[in-house]
Amino acid sequence: MTSVPTLSVGIVGACGRGASFRSACQLLGIRIAAVCDIYAEGLPKAKETLGAEEAYLDYQQMLERAKLDAVIIGTPMPLHVPQAVMALEKNIHVLSEVPVGISIDECRQLVRACKTSKALYMMAENYTYIRSNMVIREMVRQGLFGRPYYAEGEYLHELKELNEITKWRRKWQTGINGLTYPTHSLGPILQWMPGDRVVSLCCAGSGHHYKDPRGDSYENEDSCVMLCKMRSGGLVKIRLDMLSNRPHAMTNYQLQGTDGCYESSRGGPGQSHRIWLRERCPDMHTWRPLEDFYEEFTPTVWKTYLEQAKQAGHGGGDLIEMVDFLDAVTGKREADIGIHQALDMTLPGLVSQQSIAQGGAWLDVPDSREW
Ligand SMILES: NC(=O)c1ccc[n+]([C@@H]2O[C@H](COP(=O)([O-])OP(=O)(O)OC[C@H]3O[C@@H](n4cnc5c(N)ncnc54)[C@H](O)[C@@H]3O)[C@@H](O)[C@H]2O)c1
Repeated sequence: MTSVPTLSVGIVGACGRGASFRSACQLLGIRIAAVCDIYAEGLPKAKETLGAEEAYLDYQQMLERAKLDAVIIGTPMPLHVPQAVMALEKNIHVLSEVPVGISIDECRQLVRACKTSKALYMMAENYTYIRSNMVIREMVRQGLFGRPYYAEGEYLHELKELNEITKWRRKWQTGINGLTYPTHSLGPILQWMPGDRVVSLCCAGSGHHYKDPRGDSYENEDSCVMLCKMRSGGLVKIRLDMLSNRPHAMTNYQLQGTDGCYESSRGGPGQSHRIWLRERCPDMHTWRPLEDFYEEFTPTVWKTYLEQAKQAGHGGGDLIEMVDFLDAVTGKREADIGIHQALDMTLPGLVSQQSIAQGGAWLDVPDSREW
């Protein structure tokens, strides 16, 4: 591993999600040394578009031959842990797509790899970096919500067609019951409840109302909801729906604290995020638009990259998370979503799959810090 004035990264899954990291890398002066994908026909184009120096069909070879400081993992979910472990074993930093992995056992394996590696692991939970989510996080930090004790998150993303194009989704996102993709909802919420984590949960679903093009029912019930009991005693409700016929709504959030509450916009015409804070809104029955507070509570990193972030994917999150990763690997500060925070966002989904299989039983969620 070289020292890191200019970071050299390899991107795996470069013909899919991996390609979306191009603009953030370019903007931040991160060198894309190599790309990797098993899709041979698409690889030359990915190499060109991403401005990479080398291209590999084989991940192991990329790790061995390209001189990388870090890898960005944008491959399907079951590859995240194996590929992260392989990089960490070579002391190559990892920025991995969400979620961490697809089983509790492999998450344990990743924690072991993190413990013995000199490199760091960060999960690319880009929704936590969306401006409105970071503004709420800053307000919580400054105490404006008092003690947060209830939150809701929803990820409603109808992807029946996408399932057939990116076929791994048919199995890993809609082929398992429970919450198979929870981090975009739970991630920001956990950051609004600092120091807290999900200790137990139960999960139930709304039944099966759609079939895939082969006439098979999806194993995933259309809407699955998990109720999460927090260590602090608070409660969080997460709904995931990838199947119901409806417009997308992937960034629905609510937060309730002793001194304030927040409801994100449902995206309808003329709607905006709304907030009530005891300290700033003396009338307890009147909301204010969150935008009224943007100037005061937008974190510096967002102000620094404001114009560029507006162009970046996922509400700017795709860029701001890369700033965080760069800061972490260059030792400026710890990653916000290191291995344990990443698992706090991931493990509840995996336990929800056990809960729904057991008729909605309340089950404990392991704490990876004890592994
Ligand atoms: N954070 C976000 O907002 C966001 C958005 C989309 C996807 N994702 C995540 O990104 C990941 C990829 O999703 P996608 O939609 O791009 O899927 P995709 O199928 O379009 O792309 C995955 C790519 O990985 C390649 N690949 C598969 N096996 C490989 C291997 N062994 N070695 C190298 N390359 C391999 C495929 O050929 C493909 O090009 C998933 O984990 C998904 O959850 C996250």
